[in-house]
Amino acid sequence: MDKLLIEGGVRLTGETVISGAKNAALPLLCAALLTREPVTFTNVPRLNDIGTLLKLLSQMGVKVERDADSVTLDASVLDNPVAPYEMVKTMRASILVLGPLVARCGEARVSLPGGCAIGARPVDQHIKGLQAMGAEVAVEHGYVHAKVPRLKGARLFTDMVTVTGTENLMMAACLADGETVIENAAREPEVVDLANCLVAMGARISGAGTDVIRIRGVERLSGTTHRIMPDRIETGTYLCAAAATGGDIRLTGTSSAYLDAVVDKLMDTGCEVVTERDAIRLKAPARLTAVSIRTAPYPAFPTDMQAQFMAINAVATGAAMIRETIFENRFMHAVELQRLGADIRIDGNTAVVQGVERLQGATVMATDLRASASLVIAGLVAEGETVIERIYHLDRGYERLEEKLSALGARVRRLA
Ligand code: UD1
Repeated sequence: MDKLLIEGGVRLTGETVISGAKNAALPLLCAALLTREPVTFTNVPRLNDIGTLLKLLSQMGVKVERDADSVTLDASVLDNPVAPYEMVKTMRASILVLGPLVARCGEARVSLPGGCAIGARPVDQHIKGLQAMGAEVAVEHGYVHAKVPRLKGARLFTDMVTVTGTENLMMAACLADGETVIENAAREPEVVDLANCLVAMGARISGAGTDVIRIRGVERLSGTTHRIMPDRIETGTYLCAAAATGGDIRLTGTSSAYLDAVVDKLMDTGCEVVTERDAIRLKAPARLTAVSIRTAPYPAFPTDMQAQFMAINAVATGAAMIRETIFENRFMHAVELQRLGADIRIDGNTAVVQGVERLQGATVMATDLRASASLVIAGLVAEGETVIERIYHLDRGYERLEEKLSALGARVRRLA
């Protein structure tokens, strides 16, 4: 199993390019299920999660063509609207095929994603929404089996803000009979990127980016070409890595437009952040000031950046409080950071981090995608060598991580 070896203590400087957003790409690729015509996506990141989803789509009958950073999907034939457990278990986002399959085929069998390291993560809201649209849904033998001749527009209200839930229901509603209104909708930029692509395919959607989305169903959608938005979490992760190392970096192919909450907090640590049209530059002071954060749905501070901020607080001056309000078990990185010498106390969904002068390299274990990113940041500032085990988590969501970090001067190597 691959490991990552990091020799800490190097200030990150220079320039690197940000990839297309994983969390936008996953629902967008599923949207191709809604049409018989080919859909082409550009700026598709080369990530294991994308590979998993493409495999899942191709076993349903979708023709997949991949070339450099573009992917063309042709779902003219969809003879197997099934998402088997073996594929779904490694990636919860596979549930995003459910809405499009029911809408297009009138039937779908999708494995329940099951447990996940960061919490229970049920899909009850996805199911409740489809039922409200007239689908008969049975959960049996670990599978969600949904059936309906044609979905009907409905007024939907989700109990909590759910990103993939909103995306699934929005996609399903595109081919439903009549108008669907999703209240308490997620406002994440990835939802807007998906809506923009669906509109280009002929869908009638308004309100994406607000908490009420209206979709007027159409008979069919057509093909299009869509460029996937930049990854705001990858962007934020590199900004944190530069901040922690006292660095000075410029990230291209991205924008600070969707990162206000993160950029604000980085400025509070003492960093200077200059935003350009398609780039961001960050200059960090020699030592950061600790900043408290509280995660919440967009536009508030993203849960996917919580672990990285725990790492930067670990080496800042002062103490910070981190409150996680989205997932119940998302502090597994804290124990690993403690192995590197961080001073962190956990009480329920709150972590108190007291900054220390320095961390020391050690062997640590990646437990989930963003937790792994926090260990990379800690490894970059720690004295000596840090070995991160189980980096397959990182490969799910960070494209060419070692290459990009090396371009910024980091001493990092993959060990097979
Ligand atoms: C998405 C992101 C993930 C991010 C998360 C929160 C993708 C592919 N993944 O995940 O990176 O961390 O948003 O910003 O976009 N919930 C239920 N029932 C449901 C659905 C959700 O109880 O049917 C709960 C979840 O357990 C969680 C909360 O709602 O506590 C928010 O989860 P949700 O927004 O659905 O996360 P994902 O869409 O899975």
